[in-house]
Amino acid sequence: MTKVIFPTNLVAYAEQYTTPEHKSLAALNRETNMKRADSIMLSGHLQGSLLQMLSNMIKPQRILEVGTYTGYSAICLAQGLADGGVLHTIDIDEELYDIADKYITAAGLREKIVQHTGKALDIIPTLGGQFDMVFIDADKGNYANYYHAVWPMVPVGGYILADNVLYDGEVILPHEQQGKNAKAIHAFNTMLREDDRIEHLLLPVRDGIMIARKVKP
Ligand SMILES: C[S@@+](CC[C@H](N)C(=O)[O-])C[C@H]1O[C@@H](n2cnc3c(N)ncnc32)[C@H](O)[C@@H]1O
Repeated sequence: MTKVIFPTNLVAYAEQYTTPEHKSLAALNRETNMKRADSIMLSGHLQGSLLQMLSNMIKPQRILEVGTYTGYSAICLAQGLADGGVLHTIDIDEELYDIADKYITAAGLREKIVQHTGKALDIIPTLGGQFDMVFIDADKGNYANYYHAVWPMVPVGGYILADNVLYDGEVILPHEQQGKNAKAIHAFNTMLREDDRIEHLLLPVRDGIMIARKVKP
């Protein structure tokens, strides 16, 4: 899904001048790469550090992640939780549960992260309560649906983040040359640009991260 769209030597430099990857995250990264053909989906060191930094700045009480995969971004995001805070993370693929559980436990976060297995659009409405930070990182065709589903659960001042919003650079191709996912992502980006209830920033890190702050109900 995600190719490198920035010069690899600059990415390597950025990684060298970022706090080193914690050894439990490095082990998760390695095991995911060894066992999964789709390991490109894992956030990785630079993006994981960004998520961790943002979470530490926001100090959320409740985080919702849509798309756990092997747990890398959940572990990064959970580092910034306020005292007594909880992160809920959802993935449709039950085969991923055990590896995520193993590394969440190794990171000492078992009590702070709740894993849900199933379709995110079925699970989100059952969670209840509010989320001060949401990270959307699952099937691209549903990004807009996830945004609408979480909107009432995010308070004014809360954040909705979405990954892969540059979609390998495909978002700037002419419409007829874009694949299905790139079209969905471009439509999602356009929808956010037209939404005056948020302030938003498309950050060109890795495959692009959208950061939206809810400023109006
Ligand atoms: C890009 S990966 C998530 C990567 C992870 N956030 C990380 O940074 O390490 C996307 C995940 O979304 C999950 N997914 C796809 N469709 C889904 C759906 N309808 N509901 C819940 N999860 C879904 C996939 O199984 C996959 O593990």
